[in-house]
Amino acid sequence: TTPAGATHKNSYGDDIEAVVISERQIRDRTAELAAAVATRYPAAEDDLLLIGVLKGAMMFMTDFARALPIPCQMEFMAVSSYGSATSSSGVVRILKDLDRDIADRDVVIVEDIIDSGLTLSWLMKNLRTRHPRSLEVCTLLRKPDAVRNVVEVADVGFDIPNEFVVGYGLDYAERYRDLPYIGRLRRSVYQD
Ligand code: XMP
Ligand code: MG
Repeated sequence: TTPAGATHKNSYGDDIEAVVISERQIRDRTAELAAAVATRYPAAEDDLLLIGVLKGAMMFMTDFARALPIPCQMEFMAVSSYGSATSSSGVVRILKDLDRDIADRDVVIVEDIIDSGLTLSWLMKNLRTRHPRSLEVCTLLRKPDAVRNVVEVADVGFDIPNEFVVGYGLDYAERYRDLPYIGRLRRSVYQD
């Protein structure tokens, strides 16, 4: 079955209970976010530098970059936060670092989801030591717990309830990243 609001990709059976954010909602909101971010860099000397956090942010990163009305460059980092498959501990390890220096650059971290905020606050602290000219965060999704670990996030696409979601880059055990929408994963899939 395909959940209401979903288009194709029904081969995951009924693992996806509901579409939380549709393809169209993602597309429309991404355009708004990109426009909002661009207004803050009206006369930048260098291209804006987007840093995408692999793998979850990959879909949002590429759509965001295409929607951005100003030139940007793209870098990727991969980090792993120790913890269970569905929550993080805040202890972070860099799996893939940036390829270049970000000193004196205007940097926007592009994130898929902020849950506890622990991963992001670690990442911001780490990137600040490299002396970017500016550093801000644009995240597609934010869960309610994020408010407890105050990380200043400039732009949020959608505030979502505290449920495990997958799709549009987000995975459970590496699956479902390829879904073009954000869906709620059936509990029985991740609970034994
Ligand atoms: P924290 O808690 O540090 O964690 O903000 C952010 C990371 O946790 C993962 N995460 C999720 N992944 N569906 C996912 O597929 C979710 O609902 C979810 N909530 C948190 C994700 O890797 C994110 O970068
Ligand atoms: Mg993950």
